[in-house]
Amino acid sequence: MTDITIKIDGKEIQTQKDRFILEVARENGIDIPSLCYDPDLEKFGGCRLCIVEITNRGWTKIDTACSTRVADGMEINTKSEEIIKKRRAILQLLLDSHPNDCLTCQKAGACDLQKYAYEYDVKFRDHDGAKREKVYDLSSPYILKDNAKCILCGKCVQICGQIEERSILSFADRGYDAYIALDLGKDFAHSYCISCNRCVSICPVGALIDKRSLGKIRSFESEKKTVKCKVCEFGCNFEVHSKNGENIAVTAKKPSSGRPLCLKGRMMTELMFLDNPDTPYMKGAGEFIESNWLTVTGFKNIVKKIEKVDAKKGE
Ligand code: SF4
Ligand code: SF4
Ligand code: SF4
Ligand code: FES
Repeated sequence: MTDITIKIDGKEIQTQKDRFILEVARENGIDIPSLCYDPDLEKFGGCRLCIVEITNRGWTKIDTACSTRVADGMEINTKSEEIIKKRRAILQLLLDSHPNDCLTCQKAGACDLQKYAYEYDVKFRDHDGAKREKVYDLSSPYILKDNAKCILCGKCVQICGQIEERSILSFADRGYDAYIALDLGKDFAHSYCISCNRCVSICPVGALIDKRSLGKIRSFESEKKTVKCKVCEFGCNFEVHSKNGENIAVTAKKPSSGRPLCLKGRMMTELMFLDNPDTPYMKGAGEFIESNWLTVTGFKNIVKKIEKVDAKKGE
């Protein structure tokens, strides 16, 4: 690739043609806020929070840093007065229709919207007007979906679709009524969702929550340890959350390097690491059914086989 020279906030940077502004900026210690960007996903350019001022060949425009490529001689301003004003307006629009729930939200402390609202000093609204309707999906013991908190960043849709046979999530409806649907409008229990929690692992806000940690521990109060799943060769990563020496919850980490994540792996990790693992559930026709650890881990068949082998030997 050709080496080019650009300037970001006055700093001269050597980089390669065709890279995205946001990635070059971050590599050089210049942070640009983002809600829908993820290095492992297609550039979506939906949230607009990463807007910057770009001057190229005498023209200045405002564009998204996550989906605009650098070019030789480009000068980028990431923090002009105009840009800060526009970012504040974007955040205000999001917060104007967002539930004022940071105090009890499971995502508090690890929420990108909360983080940027603090950084840009934007508050929940104090005026009347439309609000996103509260539509909860409570049908799963593994995931809580709260449409009112969804900022429509699309990350869950992409990450679910990375595994071909999953692709459960999609955008539905339009404009203010737009929401993320499962199998075109079903709930978790009735959809083909396999509770892998890929979507939960990437959601930047509290719209998709790991229900098994709900009310037990939040990110800011937990000590975290990354562990590898031992169930198959992918070795997906999970995070064990502890407090006062007790291992309280296991959550899926965002998968990369082609790792799929699955419910069985998460359950096995819970069983191995948690001090008091909750009852496991399996999916039946349109509902989740209470199960037991021998069944969900697949050990039941192994135990049966061992018993059979032992019985034969005893004959
Ligand atoms: S999703 Fe984020 S901003 Fe919304 S209530 Fe939860 S912590 Fe607060
Ligand atoms: S849990 Fe897995 S399969 Fe279900 S919607 Fe999320 S990413 Fe898709
Ligand atoms: S549910 Fe979360 S990841 Fe999916 S679009 Fe909404 S905010 Fe984004
Ligand atoms: S992060 Fe660039 S548009 Fe969302």
